[in-house]
Amino acid sequence: MERHFIEVHDIGKQYGSGETVVQAVSFMDFFIDDGEFLSVMGQSGSGKSTLLSIIGGLNRPTKGTVYVDTLDIYGLSSEQKADFRSEYLGIIFQSFQLVPYLTVLENVKLPMAITGIRSGDQKARALKILERVGLGDKVNRLPDQLSGGEQERVAIARAIVNDPPILLADEPTGNLDSETAEDIMGLLKSLNEEGKTVIMVTHNSDMCHYSGRTIFMKDGRMDGSRPSGWAHLQQGFIPPSAQHTVTPSARRQPKFSKPPI
Ligand SMILES: Nc1ncnc2c1ncn2[C@@H]1O[C@H](COP(=O)(O)OP(=O)(O)OP(=O)(O)O)[C@@H](O)[C@H]1O
Ligand SMILES: [Mg+2]
Repeated sequence: MERHFIEVHDIGKQYGSGETVVQAVSFMDFFIDDGEFLSVMGQSGSGKSTLLSIIGGLNRPTKGTVYVDTLDIYGLSSEQKADFRSEYLGIIFQSFQLVPYLTVLENVKLPMAITGIRSGDQKARALKILERVGLGDKVNRLPDQLSGGEQERVAIARAIVNDPPILLADEPTGNLDSETAEDIMGLLKSLNEEGKTVIMVTHNSDMCHYSGRTIFMKDGRMDGSRPSGWAHLQQGFIPPSAQHTVTPSARRQPKFSKPPI
């Protein structure tokens, strides 16, 4: 049987119990291929962040299974799950979640703390990534000495410093002006073109044309999906992202041993 890079099998998530129960996600069932750029759209409260956190192994669903690269991620021990996250995932949260008392450089070095990379190499790698996201001259600042767009770049740098094959981004442009938002989307798009699988939650249909496919959520359920450029196709415009063919990254061998499925 052909396996997809990410498989979401009939997941559901309830928060709370009894009279206060919230059915945040139900009957979500879809696949994501290696090298895809997927947008998830929907109104506030429709379950987008819940879905993303479930795919990221951070939020155990009350029903269903998630496979990433054939791994049943909620079947992993907590140690294996930590290895899985460190090796496979870069996560850009809805609020950037930078550590306020650490400098930009220290924030970006954080995910390498558990990798066993030598301290000097950690610094060199973090500086290289910060250069790439255009913050080479601000590495010693604290997060509150940066603009919103710059903080977003630090969050992206931190997410990619371990070179994960998957990037999860929750409203990466939510708090940014439209020009800065386009810059950030360009950065995510170029990471996708290098082979990373990107899953992005957004409220903004303008941001979806950077992705290859958009799925819509309503009241916790899938409410349709459309291919790239859907927002512009009606006007006869084919965005560059729709014309681009991504070369999927070479599938990596996990450093930890996979449990049998
Ligand atoms: N930890 C929680 N405990 C209880 N209910 C929760 C929890 N997290 C989310 N919810 C509820 O689950 C539903 C889906 O929330 P979620 O954060 O996934 O929505 P969202 O689509 O990301 O919204 P937004 O666009 O505002 O970020 C909402 O009704 C929310 O109130
Ligand atoms: Mg959300």
